[in-house]
Amino acid sequence: MEVVISLKNISKIYDNKIRALDNVSLEVKAGETIGLLGPNGAGKTTLMRIIAGQLQPSSGEGIVLGKNLRELLRSEERFKLSYVPQENIFWPNLSVEENLWMMGAMYKIPKRELRDRIKKLLEEYELWEVRKRLARKLSGGMQKRLSIVMGLINDPEILILDEPTTGLDPAMRASVIGLLEKLNSLGKTILISSHIVEDIERLCERVVIMDRGRIIADAQPMELKIKITGREVLEVLFNEIDKEVLEKLGRIAEERDMARAGYKIIIKGDDLIALSNEIRNDKALYENVITLSIRKSTLEDVFLFLTGRLIGG
Ligand SMILES: Nc1ncnc2c1ncn2[C@@H]1O[C@H](COP(=O)(O)OP(=O)(O)O)[C@@H](O)[C@H]1O
Ligand SMILES: [Mg+2]
Repeated sequence: MEVVISLKNISKIYDNKIRALDNVSLEVKAGETIGLLGPNGAGKTTLMRIIAGQLQPSSGEGIVLGKNLRELLRSEERFKLSYVPQENIFWPNLSVEENLWMMGAMYKIPKRELRDRIKKLLEEYELWEVRKRLARKLSGGMQKRLSIVMGLINDPEILILDEPTTGLDPAMRASVIGLLEKLNSLGKTILISSHIVEDIERLCERVVIMDRGRIIADAQPMELKIKITGREVLEVLFNEIDKEVLEKLGRIAEERDMARAGYKIIIKGDDLIALSNEIRNDKALYENVITLSIRKSTLEDVFLFLTGRLIGG
């Protein structure tokens, strides 16, 4: 497969002091769907804007669609890439349809072709019914869908979506995810950033985990889980976690096999049933337990074991 994004040792320092990216290297092949997962401030937006050519790195080299990062925005190749920022990009006082016309005009798409394309997009992504409605009058989920569809008007080879599911209620999130799943089947190269683990797990065949400006993992979600946490973990929610609890747990599991997130302890290991029974059999310890369950591991667990923190903070 053709490599469409290739970054080597990219760093970005803002205002001579904030190191937003620290030596990031990344290779993306045509058709891949990649999730950029990491907490706020990890550097996801900075990385995406650099790939889109909107921001220049402080150091390092990159080639996107065959163009050097420095020349991308001045080349024809920029039309083959869409970057949809986290904040909505439409004109609020134009209708859905008018927004797409404006966007198409900016790309200088011939009128007839644009008309067909807009109709197709509106139908395909379920905005046809609301095509006459002002963008600002749409629900949050529809607004986000409009933003993404505007990024599709140029039929891009690379689509970069910054936190497309953030800040939406569950129903709206589901409707945006539905759209993203549809996009997945088109075979485009897609980069999605998120700090919502489930969305990345659902949509992406490859996850790039970022923390404090660095890429700390890059693999298929299942591959990462098998390597870092195992397929399942034991999750114990305590009323209170004190020294005694930690000591007891330390005797039951090995310290490197435990991670703490607030009142929760996540334990990995080979025989989780035996571990959970040991906790149950310790009366004093079990008294303090609210819930105890063996469940499938998630990328949140992976992040927790890698960093000692949760993605959600
Ligand atoms: N324009 C900017 N000027 C100064 N600092 C910035 C700017 N944009 C981002 N940062 C800082 O760079 C770091 C990475 O930010 P960002 O790329 O937005 O991360 P993310 O998208 O993962 O939340 C953060 O510490 C953030 O505060
Ligand atoms: Mg961001």
